[in-house]
Amino acid sequence: MGRWIVASAWPYAYSIPHLGNLIGAPLSADVFARFLRKMGEEVVFVSGSDEHGTPIEAEARRRGIHPRELTDEMHERLRDLFRRFGISYDNYTRTESPVHVDFVRDFYSKVYDNGYVFEREVEQLYCPNCRMFLPDRFVTGTCPYCGNPSAYGDQCDRCGKLLKPTDLIGPRCVFCGSTPVLRRTKHWFFDLPRFAGPLEDYVSGNERLPDNARNMSLAMIREGLEPRSLTRDNSWGIPAPFPGAEGKTIYVWMEAVLGYVSAVREWAEEAGDPAAFDTYWKSPDTRAVYFIGKDNIPFHVIILPALLMASGEGYVLPYNVASTEFLMYEGMKFSKSKGVGIWMDEALDLLEPDYWRYYLLATRPERKDANFSWSDFEEKINGELNDVLGNFVHRVLTFVRSRFGGVVPDGEIDGESSETLAEARSHAERSLEEMKGFRMRRSLQEVMEVARIGNRYLNSRAPWDQIRVDREAAAATIRTAVSMVKMLSVFIEPFLPFSAEKIWGMLALDGDVHRVTYGEAFNPVPGGHEIGEPRPLFSKVSREDLIARLEEIRRDRG
Ligand code: MF3
Ligand code: ZN
Repeated sequence: MGRWIVASAWPYAYSIPHLGNLIGAPLSADVFARFLRKMGEEVVFVSGSDEHGTPIEAEARRRGIHPRELTDEMHERLRDLFRRFGISYDNYTRTESPVHVDFVRDFYSKVYDNGYVFEREVEQLYCPNCRMFLPDRFVTGTCPYCGNPSAYGDQCDRCGKLLKPTDLIGPRCVFCGSTPVLRRTKHWFFDLPRFAGPLEDYVSGNERLPDNARNMSLAMIREGLEPRSLTRDNSWGIPAPFPGAEGKTIYVWMEAVLGYVSAVREWAEEAGDPAAFDTYWKSPDTRAVYFIGKDNIPFHVIILPALLMASGEGYVLPYNVASTEFLMYEGMKFSKSKGVGIWMDEALDLLEPDYWRYYLLATRPERKDANFSWSDFEEKINGELNDVLGNFVHRVLTFVRSRFGGVVPDGEIDGESSETLAEARSHAERSLEEMKGFRMRRSLQEVMEVARIGNRYLNSRAPWDQIRVDREAAAATIRTAVSMVKMLSVFIEPFLPFSAEKIWGMLALDGDVHRVTYGEAFNPVPGGHEIGEPRPLFSKVSREDLIARLEEIRRDRG
């Protein structure tokens, strides 16, 4: 038995995640959490809405509302979308949660007391009209290197040069266009360089980290780490607890990553078992795994471990940071403004969640960027999900209904059948090995192999012919096939929880498919068991229809 914290990156309470965001964090994390529960492990699965930061403050300002009004609404929408996609969080919370706010303030007081925070005077651009300090990204102007008239204060997106806001020619505030002025202000910094040695040991000693995470992090450490600023002059955020820092808030990233810790505390308190917090976060044998997109690597592989070390609280360091590459959409980057991509709410208006779950998990960008394309989607849904999985289950169950009155026959399992079961079982077991190595795409393929074997077995045994000449043999075939359907319903559950529930229901088995362990999956369905009413699991899709529907949805929403 092991103990696990499963975490997925916290989405900004600002926009709806697209399919690339979904596969990168929440969906991958959900599959892993469900897998662990089926292995009989202790699991707490957490995430939440990332509510602070300038983009959210700016969006609220644009709409003329308080940021909290915006994030209240978005938090509910996000929570609802994840629920509808079957993401099985034990706690989906938010960074405005009082537990999080108190936790962050206590945490940084400790880091301060431990001597890892220092203050420094800096000069920063300030917009006198908006009456706010402007983060680098919120200053625009002409790039001094290539002349691009709309470069940003952190980077020119045309020539790619990294910039400081003061490098820009003719700098302007992105909100109002006024010319910002330089003002002195004080900020508090986290002394990250002091953790360079321990971090290098941690990263190079953690063999599970995917190549993208390991290489990027080691390169950053070897190039030299710099102190990271902890405070901002924004009012929307968590008040900094440092002496003299009144009026400052903690920089959004530096508090959101602590949500993984505070969310477990909140969960333990709500469950009436506050001691579970220490059991999870402070036992050296707890394994904490993070599911994120590759753009979040430095914050999870460098900043978070350093902060955990700096607290001196003995919190466990990440066991793995399962970072995915990007998903493209028809070869392009997802872009809301250009309408390139599909967003979670639209996806649910088009098809039931398991269609998306299947496709995204079958295309999960594990070692390189992957591409969503409608033709591939149509192929995988029709040719795999429907023809392989859906058809196998349906063929078997309708046969039990039509030829055996809905009662699983008591056939003696012959040699060929038990060999088939053993082959199916070995693929099912291999799917668990792939999952342990965080290769979800391969793991899903192994489960699908069970259905392929089932279809081949049905074709070669042809029970519809057998039954005319040898009812015993037909009975053995069907009993074997029903047992494979049961195996499939359990093994497919982490990937396709809604379909697993349907299959389990059609089999009319006792208990809850979400709680049944893998071990139980191999116990054959006993002869004499009566199944329920079979219904097709999936239907074929047509990409033309789906694309047309999507356009319609967008037109209706404006
Ligand atoms: N909100 C960030 C993003 O969408 C991710 C934050 S992960 C966290 O890129 F854990 F730090 F919150
Ligand atoms: Zn301004």
